[in-house]
Amino acid sequence: MSAQAGQTKKVRVAVVGTGEFGRNHARVYRELPGAELVGVYDKDATRAAAVATEFGTQTLRDLAALRGIADAVSVAVPTVAHAEVGCQLLEMGLDVLVEKPMAVNLAEAQALLDAAKRHNRILQVGHVERFNPAVVAVEPILKRPLFFEVHRLGVFTPRSLDVDVIYDLMIHDLDILLALVKEPVTEVKAVGIPVLTDKVDIAHARLEFVGGAVANVTASRVSTERVRKMRFFQQHEYISLDYGRRDALRVGVKKAGPQPEFGFEKLPASVVEPLHAELEAFLEAARSRQEPKTNGAAGYAALELASRVMASIREHAKRVHIQDSRATSGHMPGFEVPGMDTLVEPQKTTK
Ligand SMILES: NC(=O)c1ccc[n+]([C@@H]2O[C@H](COP(=O)([O-])OP(=O)(O)OC[C@H]3O[C@@H](n4cnc5c(N)ncnc54)[C@H](O)[C@@H]3O)[C@@H](O)[C@H]2O)c1
Repeated sequence: MSAQAGQTKKVRVAVVGTGEFGRNHARVYRELPGAELVGVYDKDATRAAAVATEFGTQTLRDLAALRGIADAVSVAVPTVAHAEVGCQLLEMGLDVLVEKPMAVNLAEAQALLDAAKRHNRILQVGHVERFNPAVVAVEPILKRPLFFEVHRLGVFTPRSLDVDVIYDLMIHDLDILLALVKEPVTEVKAVGIPVLTDKVDIAHARLEFVGGAVANVTASRVSTERVRKMRFFQQHEYISLDYGRRDALRVGVKKAGPQPEFGFEKLPASVVEPLHAELEAFLEAARSRQEPKTNGAAGYAALELASRVMASIREHAKRVHIQDSRATSGHMPGFEVPGMDTLVEPQKTTK
């Protein structure tokens, strides 16, 4: 097939898990000229039927029904089922975009990586903020950033409460920091507190990278306002990035000293919806067989860093004697950190 023919070929896509976020995948696939939405599957048939009707596609009776009719699938089931569903689809020979966080623990994330490798399939992870125009805008001007301040705060909603805020919200910023700094993290210090749920609802982490860059990252789902900001400094420059507004401002020192002069530049940013850009990238990876930027390895690295943040939070909680109500409630799955003394006994995932 010629490159030009390859670019115009529609990728046959499906969505598995048509809840809150899976519905968005179906909506965007319907809007993308390079995709043909061939069907949706949800173990709740009513939800699948509602989304299928809304976006003019069919419901599928099970995952096996995707064989032969789809090339690529978005997996937007709860995190606890990512590995089980994702591995099954990869084994069926389908390319997979699995939502973030990639899996419930590193062993299951590794199982996804192994299945993709074994079957030579594309594995993308839904780190959608990497496609935020504000993040894309700062990438070309990076010059050894050394200090980051990151805030991702939200008001309380009864969503994604099965996971600590680190895996729900902070993981977006951990992934972006790894992509911007491009160095291993040498030190992690974190504190996190359950406020309204029996999981960590608000957390702060201080990360130090091998080259000396430091990041202060705060994530909260129990705040009074919604903030989605990353600010960072590099030599003679300050960059302020707003994920919500999808724009970035660069402030440069034109003249230092007691009467400094500054230059302000709004960085050129596209107006694309991040999920559009993310699913476009997935379609392109499926066509070209080139690794997407948020590939399985990136998803694994973000999850690993999130696990280190959780480990530090547990260590801090133990030190300051925070009692964990989860130890007795025992109804939510916990995240395992191998070799860690956990605050909560992780339950077995529903395999
Ligand atoms: N990238 C982002 O910014 C972002 C935002 C929100 C949610 N998410 C992720 O998307 C995933 C889904 O979140 P949500 O808020 O849409 O959850 P949800 O509970 O609204 O929807 C999940 C759906 O999956 C279905 N389901 C459960 N197990 C299934 C299985 N084995 N096979 C098929 N269907 C199954 C459920 O019936 C439900 O309809 C989570 O991993 C979450 O972390 C990502």
